Amino acid sequence: MCGIVGYIGKENALKAVVEGLEKLEYRGYDSAGVAYKKGEDILICKEKGRVSDLKLCILDTDSSLAIGHTRWATHGEPNKRNAHPHCSMNGRFVIVHNGIIENYQKLKFEYLSEYSFISETDTEIIVNLIEHFSISLTTEEAIRKTMSLLEGSYACLILDQNDLEHIYCMKDKSPLLIGRGKSAVCFASDITGLIGYAEEYMPLEDKTFGVISKEGIYLQDIIGIAIENKFQKIAVQKEEIDKQTYDHFMLKEIYEQPMMVRNLIHHYFSKEEVNVSSKLIHHIRQSDKINFVACGSSMYASYFAKYYMEKLCGIPCEVFCASELVYSTPLISKRPFFIFFSQSGETADLIAVIKKIKKQRFPILTITNTIESSMVRLSDYYLNIYAGKEIAVASTKAYTAMIVTSAILARAVSKTKTNLKSNLKAVSLAMEKVLENKEVCKGIAKEIIDQKDAFYIGRGIDYWTSLEASLKLKEIAYIHTEAFSSGELKHGPIALITKNTPVLAIITQEGTNRITRSNLEETASRGAKTYVIASKGLSTPKDDVIIPNVAHYLSPLVSVLVVQLIAYYAAVLKHNDVDKPKNLAKSVTVE
Ligand code: G6P
Repeated sequence: MCGIVGYIGKENALKAVVEGLEKLEYRGYDSAGVAYKKGEDILICKEKGRVSDLKLCILDTDSSLAIGHTRWATHGEPNKRNAHPHCSMNGRFVIVHNGIIENYQKLKFEYLSEYSFISETDTEIIVNLIEHFSISLTTEEAIRKTMSLLEGSYACLILDQNDLEHIYCMKDKSPLLIGRGKSAVCFASDITGLIGYAEEYMPLEDKTFGVISKEGIYLQDIIGIAIENKFQKIAVQKEEIDKQTYDHFMLKEIYEQPMMVRNLIHHYFSKEEVNVSSKLIHHIRQSDKINFVACGSSMYASYFAKYYMEKLCGIPCEVFCASELVYSTPLISKRPFFIFFSQSGETADLIAVIKKIKKQRFPILTITNTIESSMVRLSDYYLNIYAGKEIAVASTKAYTAMIVTSAILARAVSKTKTNLKSNLKAVSLAMEKVLENKEVCKGIAKEIIDQKDAFYIGRGIDYWTSLEASLKLKEIAYIHTEAFSSGELKHGPIALITKNTPVLAIITQEGTNRITRSNLEETASRGAKTYVIASKGLSTPKDDVIIPNVAHYLSPLVSVLVVQLIAYYAAVLKHNDVDKPKNLAKSVTVE
């Protein structure tokens, strides 16, 4: 979702900002813009479309100070007028903003009746409020006064035409990092945007205000108390955000999964013992119910976590969709434990729930790929899924890494010893075998791309994989796809089957093999074109994709690679933008 970048330093600021925006492209956006110092003026360049479109209008321009933005439309359609940066009515202030101001209409009515507006954005209200207050206050005071009035979320960078030696920043709820390099200070919405220009970073706390110049970084809280600069080293390597020889990041990330499993074994096991904090294990063991909270693929991964925890540890569990939980309070048990799953650690719906849970003082663990994230800062415990940076919007390796990490956590909490380590090694080898078989997946993709609908079916574990399979196909191939528990077909969905509707069954569990096949047969009798993805031990010669046998509870780690590849090739064959699908964002920082 919206990305912000800022640079002040000795190198070409405009080049640094455009490069930063390119690194943030993966977050998802529909327009982009920059504002930069040119002589004694601030110039703005913005376009609907890609960051590459910007490059044409700013070619060869040098500047010592610049800010930039990629916009994912919330207020107002994606066009040049609504793209950031936005300028105040009299031209004094320029702003880029990530977030949503909930009370912008009220503020406009109360303070800005004399002002005229160009865009439909809430952002234009912020920049005009600053200008309005600056008539009687200093810039710092005007920004802090504006902060005190805003409700909602924001991470903003601001330039003042009367002082071109500083970048101002303010932040509440939306993420903003400040980076420090040998010759520069820079900003970005996530660490990826800082790579190449900063060696250290510091995530800004909510309600932080800052003034940055070449000489230094001066941060304050909303009432003006100085905040200490606490920088830490950037651990992400440049190679991690490089596509290398792959056509797309998604394909690279699909291929990284066998290695990811081995990495997780390396990080969490010493011999046969699992290294997870004993305090965390103790805390989970004390609980009478584990509540899993997540969104999207991470929520589908948490179904497996529930399964492992219940089966291995005997603790009742429930999975909640974060965007629902924010507005409804379920029955809470006496000793609940909350586990959040998030690749980015910045999903706004999840942050809203964490804050709500935190107020009630319930223990919180976040399982994430981003340990420098807001969610980790708000949690009592965190576990790293060590998937490495995931750039493609559609999650692949982070999803499987969450499942592996949950199995490891359940093994640590359980008092029963299992041979998880060797089973996981077998999974990484089985994953490699599936990847060798990618042409079969491509063949299936070719057959389904022109269909209006497609359905995935399965039961139990295989049903949860079907949910993820269907999400992948929707996200990047734009095919209307649903997942059904195969037993539910005859209670409604079977009415949707017409001639050649693709129905793909996932079969990796002995107990449900026979019945899922019967249900698939029922769709074939009504004209469906059926496909079977089955584990070797349960397969028949007619099955379309046969995957190696692994421990039955880890089979989703292998079957899911097949459906990831089907979705990937369907998107490629349809000439879709695989890594940056339309309307979607990697980091969903608005509720
Ligand atoms: C977006 C992404 C999905 C992701 C979901 C949850 O919708 O496109 O790939 O699963 O957010 O994100 P999180 O970072 O919390 O795992």
